[in-house]
Amino acid sequence: PQARIKIDTDRKVGEVHPNMFGNFAEHLGRCIYGGIYEEGSPLSDASGFRKDVMEATKNLGVSLLRWPGGNFASGYNWKDGIGPKDQRPVRPDHAWGDLDSNRFGTDEFLQYCERLGVTPYICINAGYGTVNEAREWVEYVNEARSTYWADQRRKNGRDKPYGVKIWGLGNEIDGPWQLGHKNAEDYSKFALEAAKAMRRVDSSIQLIASGSSNFGPNADWIAWNREILQNLRSEIDYISLHTYIGNRENNFERFLATSQDLDERIEVVAGLIQAAQSGQRNPRPIYIAYDEWNVWYRARGNTEFATGSTRLEEIYNYEDALAMGMFFNSFIRRADVVKMANLAQLVNVIAPIFTNKQGLFLQPIYFPIAEYGKQRNNMSLNALVTSPTYTPAPGRKPLGYLDVSVTHNTKENALYVNVLNRSEKLDIATRLDNVEGAIQSAVGVWTMNYDDLKATHTFGADKKIVPANSTYTAKVEKNGFTYTFPKHSLTILKV
Ligand code: AHR
Repeated sequence: PQARIKIDTDRKVGEVHPNMFGNFAEHLGRCIYGGIYEEGSPLSDASGFRKDVMEATKNLGVSLLRWPGGNFASGYNWKDGIGPKDQRPVRPDHAWGDLDSNRFGTDEFLQYCERLGVTPYICINAGYGTVNEAREWVEYVNEARSTYWADQRRKNGRDKPYGVKIWGLGNEIDGPWQLGHKNAEDYSKFALEAAKAMRRVDSSIQLIASGSSNFGPNADWIAWNREILQNLRSEIDYISLHTYIGNRENNFERFLATSQDLDERIEVVAGLIQAAQSGQRNPRPIYIAYDEWNVWYRARGNTEFATGSTRLEEIYNYEDALAMGMFFNSFIRRADVVKMANLAQLVNVIAPIFTNKQGLFLQPIYFPIAEYGKQRNNMSLNALVTSPTYTPAPGRKPLGYLDVSVTHNTKENALYVNVLNRSEKLDIATRLDNVEGAIQSAVGVWTMNYDDLKATHTFGADKKIVPANSTYTAKVEKNGFTYTFPKHSLTILKV
């Protein structure tokens, strides 16, 4: 064999948190309006929620939903989105150039989450918004006693507090494109006050600081995270990271080498968390929320000023599906510190689900996301991996063709071996060893393997780039066996 994956169930990294399979819904293009929510459609229920989208979301295994943005959050006034729908103001959105009818707001979002059984996560407006608006939002959503905003909620038909536990302290405040962009010092001051005010309403909430989204040549992204962590370490539970990748150069192996960036960003921020906690008496645990991630480089917006216009409608191909495995492998390898990850986004806007007025289709990226989601609560293991290497670009470090993560489900007594073979040309014969225990010869195989890297799906034709399930009869010798991972494929072995 040319490669080796050596597994030891004692080499535990951390539990794969269910929130690693989170998602994100922004007021942007047709994500909410025309995706999640379409009033008057025969495909929608009485609340205006598209039933077909809800079903596809359930099957995707979504655990958590972030809302309302994204860049949109930094100009959003949540008070516009409550009360009788016909009396809500229609507002321009200056993040994307849309027109927001505000017919989908806080109550609609939280009812949607309840219907789906997913954990809601609200991102406050730390751009043009105020600390007090953020405090009032928590009061509207979570206050049980009779107060002005809790009573407004009751007036709007909801007596019981929603009990939203996860709140984001703004979106991408490090980015100059953000409405209300700030430097790290000014953002820290805002976030500290917001944390204090929001926790005066509900001390049980968990808070996510706006970490890095700007990795451009002029951005000192490490300094941003260092300062945020230093200033907010006693208030926050997570720091966010955002990463979008693309195959602009049409170079498959280089595209799938972007795990180097992901791994580096995670490692560096994990180190900065440790540095911020060092010497502290009872340091507050802080994790990484990989708050937005996906492939995104083709589709942008148009100039249409409307609710539900066409923006960021990326059509995904087979190689993008492989990239899903790469992202999850990076997150799982550091499951001790990455405790949340939200695919951006759920429907139509850079999304695995794509609708029109008649129905929907599933993009190729849908399938790996759904499959990896089955590993929630498993224990991530630190496997030893060797495989043939390549140098993705001049000046970059060499990396293995096999990109691997391994998890252990103790209840099923099963190992999940997640393998992306990012070689465009090489099938790679690999020896798998389980140092601790016996291996059954019947190995479950889930795989995606398609010849045309650029193949896509569309309406009525979304059964082409789909996974295959089979059983492989392994020739087990000394608690190990050999398996060949085909070129440009993603495989999950259940051993
Ligand atoms: O997901 C699309 C956009 O990407 C989000 O609004 C923003 O946070 C990021 O730049």
